[in-house]
Amino acid sequence: MTKVFTVAIDGPAAAGKGTISRAVAARFAFAHLDTGVLYRAVGVKGGDPVVVARGLSAEDLVRGDLRSLEAGQAASRVAAIPEVRAALLEFQRRFARRAGGAVLDGRDIGTVICPEAEVKLYVTASAEVRARRRWLELGGEDAPKPYEVVLAELHERDARDMARAEAPLKPAADAVVIDTSEMGIEAAVAAAVERVAAGLAMSGRIDAPGE
Ligand code: DC
Repeated sequence: MTKVFTVAIDGPAAAGKGTISRAVAARFAFAHLDTGVLYRAVGVKGGDPVVVARGLSAEDLVRGDLRSLEAGQAASRVAAIPEVRAALLEFQRRFARRAGGAVLDGRDIGTVICPEAEVKLYVTASAEVRARRRWLELGGEDAPKPYEVVLAELHERDARDMARAEAPLKPAADAVVIDTSEMGIEAAVAAAVERVAAGLAMSGRIDAPGE
């Protein structure tokens, strides 16, 4: 019988968390929650962020504009409000401990949402590498913003996410750090899958599916 097994994946923006989380979830048939989407949905909706966070609906999470740089900045701002974080906490905790296994990616999964997670990864990369990836995703030379602006905004978001009083971004003491600065995404996914497979083998909570 499948039991609870949580993979917590934290790290700064554009480090590769999303790709790694989706790959790990697919490989082990775990459910996946990109927790940044919750904060992005609150950030873009407008109005009182605490009221919005308390009444967030499924439709709010599938808006087309959630992936923009502006939505990321808005998310980072509302994410510093303790009442917003409190409103989103229970949903994330329940998701993390659902039967069958779950992967959650965000900033505070291993430290606050699920300190008991069986596997904790902290995925990071230098700010320059992350900004370049984001800029290339936006179209490179055709991007609406020059690389320098993307880098400056990333620094601003990192600083806000790391300096806030409530649930700041930092690796959990028992997190395994994966630095993707000089690693291809396949190698990063392989490193993450290896850690999860080792965690599953150690926990004996769930049978790892075959290759
Ligand atoms: O992972 P992302 O870029 O979609 O996150 C957007 C912002 O949301 C991020 O800058 C900070 C906030 N966030 C958070 O505070 N805690 C999380 N678990 C996830 C995101």
